[in-house]
Formats: sequence, structure tokens, C-alpha cells
Amino acid sequence: MTAEAPVVGVSAGAAVHAAAERLRAAKSPSPRLDAELLVGHVLDRDRAWLLAHEDAPLAADAASRLAGLVERRAAGEPVAYLRGFKEWYGLTLRTDRRALIPRPETELLVDVAVAETTRRLAADDRLITVWDVGTGSGAVAVALARRFRTALALGRIHLVASDVSPDALELAAENLASYGVDRLVALQVSDLLDSVGAEAAPPDIVVANLPYVPQRDVDAGAGSLAWEPRAALDGGPDGLDIVRRLLTRLPDRLAADGLAYLEIGVGQAAAVEAAVGLLPGSWSCSITTDLAGHERIVTVSRIP
Ligand SMILES: C[S@@+](CC[C@H](N)C(=O)[O-])C[C@H]1O[C@@H](n2cnc3c(N)ncnc32)[C@H](O)[C@@H]1O
Repeated sequence: MTAEAPVVGVSAGAAVHAAAERLRAAKSPSPRLDAELLVGHVLDRDRAWLLAHEDAPLAADAASRLAGLVERRAAGEPVAYLRGFKEWYGLTLRTDRRALIPRPETELLVDVAVAETTRRLAADDRLITVWDVGTGSGAVAVALARRFRTALALGRIHLVASDVSPDALELAAENLASYGVDRLVALQVSDLLDSVGAEAAPPDIVVANLPYVPQRDVDAGAGSLAWEPRAALDGGPDGLDIVRRLLTRLPDRLAADGLAYLEIGVGQAAAVEAAVGLLPGSWSCSITTDLAGHERIVTVSRIP
């Protein structure tokens, strides 16, 4: 493929090859995969179909759309924004520049929240308030709402998803609606847990993937960082400004026997543990490691 346009009349396999060459020349980090995803996208087919149908023809309009998408990818735009969706936690979520593209590591945040919510549901009949702080695209909230659809409908769980960004909340609303769970989740514009008390009960379980990228990395803009909302990424000089701010809210806002699960970046666990040590009262802090062996989730709770 040239930089101008793909050759009309080529097969899907040839289009993948040409697109991959173009992306390789543009120093794309995953040229072959991206090429397959983009060719699949213009054909409205998945990668498995593409592999089995390399000889399928690419119509002129599909070829022309592909050329545009390949050039945008060559300029660095994330595939999830080009396709308009991302597969995550078994879901297909709408993605665009209003919010961060959900990351694979955040699936662990859902897993720990699901385990704790399930444990509490089985323990007694009390209402459980679960709060997804910084919901972005609504990824975590959609996953939790789908998992606990019945308990939410029966009023056993109250699920809140909040963000400071009205744009992100708009996207979250679209994703919740596309899974038919929009009526089961309370969306709120809120700085961290500021709306507790005014609009919601103190949360029993806080789930938060807040911005934790150090400012200098956001400025460097590697990969998708140059395209995603700065407010979804920038955590200040060491990445932990907003996480620390949330920690300081917990003594006032978290339910007495509540738990907070905070996603963090590689190498940030010690600093978060130190911040928990400064909270008034007695707090426990434990770390969950992800499949890659990185310290990924900090669990914070009061020591009774
Ligand atoms: C890293 S993104 C995560 C989005 C989503 N939870 C996910 O995992 O894909 C962080 C989100 O936190 C939001 N955010 C940043 N500062 C916030 C604050 N002070 N209060 C609430 N949300 C905030 C951003 O707008 C962004 O949507």
C-alpha cells in the first residue's frame, strides 16, 4: 500500500499485508495486528473470519475507508478510537476521545470488586453501595452492572458511577444503555467522593481506576497517551496526586466497614502504602499483583 490509497480490487489478505507494511514503515508498535483489525473493521468482520477468507475482495468504498484509517493509525491514533469500540472483559465498549480506552489490567479491578461484593451479598441482607470513582467510559460500571443485574434490580446493591468529566459520563451512559443496564446505575458528576452524603450513602466498596500516569510521561505522549483525555491520565509529578486525594477522603466518606480498591501503576505501591499510613485512625493496606507480576491493586480498609 502507498501512503495515498490502497489498490482497489485487492483481496483482504493483500490489503492486510499492504496496510501492515505501511504501519511498519510508520513505526507502529503492532502493525500486523492493527492491519488485521482495520481491514476487519471496514469489512465488518472479525479477525478469525479474515484469516479464513484472505481471498475475499475489498470493494472500492471499503478500500477507500481503509486508506483513511491506515493513515490515521500511521499518525498514532489508537485503533480503539478508529474502530469506535474496544473489546474488554468480554464486553464491546464504545470508545472515543471523551474517555480513556479501557486497559486489560483494569479487568483485575473488576475481579476483586466482584469477589468482595459476592461475599457481602452472601453474608447478610444489608444494602451494599458500590462506587466506581472516575468511571470514564463506564467500563467497570458496565461489567459490575451486568454481573449483578439481579441484585441491582432487587435493590440489594446500589451502584454509583461518577466522574469529574461530563463528556466521559455521557459516554458511560451510552455504554450502560447499550447493555440495558442504564437504569441500574446512578451516574453522577462528582469530584472523587464529594457527592457522598448529598446524593448517595457512604460507599461500602469503592472501585477506582483514577489517573496515575506521571505528568512527564503524559507530556511525552507515547502510544495512545497523546490521544486520550489528559484528565484521564495525568496524576501529577509522581502520578499519585489524585489517588492520594482520594485516600484523604476515605476517613470521612467510606462506610465504617468499607473497602477501597485502587488501581495503581508499576512501582507506585510503596508510595500509596506510605500515604495510607498518614490517614487519621488505623488503616490496613494490602496489594494484589496482576498476571504480569506487577503490583496493581491497593486494598484499603479501616482496622476495627
Ligand atoms: C484512568 S481513567 C479510568 C477510566 C475508567 N475507570 C477505566 O478504567 O477505563 C480515570 C478517570 O478518572 C476521572 N477523574 C480524574 N480526576 C477525577 C476526580 N477528581 N474525580 C472523579 N473522577 C476523576 C477522569 O475523568 C477519567 O475518566
